[in-house]
Amino acid sequence: MNDKYWSKRGKLSYDYKGEKFYTITPLPFYLKRRKILLRTIEKVIRQIKRRKPNLKVCDFGSGDGFYCCWMSKKLPESEITGFDISPSMTKEAIERVNRENLNNIAVYCGDFNNKNRNYDLVLSLAVLQHFIKPEEIAKKTKQLHDHLEDEGMVVLFEATSKKADSSKKLLRRTEAFYTNIFEDAGFRLIEKQFISFPFFNLYQRKFLNRFLNIFKGDEVQKCVSMNKNFFMNTLNRFMLDIGIVLDKFFRPKQGNTIFVFKKN
Ligand SMILES: C[S@@+](CC[C@H](N)C(=O)[O-])C[C@H]1O[C@@H](n2cnc3c(N)ncnc32)[C@H](O)[C@@H]1O
Repeated sequence: MNDKYWSKRGKLSYDYKGEKFYTITPLPFYLKRRKILLRTIEKVIRQIKRRKPNLKVCDFGSGDGFYCCWMSKKLPESEITGFDISPSMTKEAIERVNRENLNNIAVYCGDFNNKNRNYDLVLSLAVLQHFIKPEEIAKKTKQLHDHLEDEGMVVLFEATSKKADSSKKLLRRTEAFYTNIFEDAGFRLIEKQFISFPFFNLYQRKFLNRFLNIFKGDEVQKCVSMNKNFFMNTLNRFMLDIGIVLDKFFRPKQGNTIFVFKKN
């Protein structure tokens, strides 16, 4: 996806329960996944802090700055740097940083590779899944390796699938695809967690995606309207909750994977 796409997405942000979002994933589902991801990031931070109290953290593809701000509050003595290619996303992130009055964060519109700086921890959350060419992912992964301190770590979060699959918005690749690329770049896999809600997935594919047509606009605008709609959020919350009970009867085929890699 190019920066034009992300700039458009950045401009379509909306409020939900006092927080700003731009996600097109059904919100209850997005929040559930985010909670699981934050738990892993917290664990990785604890591990690094055992050997180094103040960290340098890079958020590659920082989007609206949620994770930068979250880390800033968790690590007030550390330096957090966010990078995003989209000007409107960067603007959203800077506004969030200012709103929350945080002073250990810098957010740049651009590429981390252009700054001569090394980090103890890099977050790469839902970024590489939008890269079309595998060779671009391999190149970025090598650059991440070059910008890490010894024993530095990467938390990678990507849409994954048992079999590679593609849609217009992102490329769903296998876990082995990412593991191989990171190992080739000189990383060691420390931990891997597959997150899947197969019932909700089925509901989304068979029902929700068709129901979206009651909203106007392109695919992105329809998803944003869904997330702004009280009735849809209540329905999605309900389907997610009953889905969690029913998930044991379904075989997960696709979901998201959290990978933790360490620099060798
Ligand atoms: C799905 S969003 C994820 C944002 C954030 N990591 C999160 O999880 O909320 C992907 C973001 O990656 C950014 N992005 C894509 N390619 C990038 C690149 N080469 N360098 C920096 N940012 C990039 C996009 O502009 C977009 O904001």
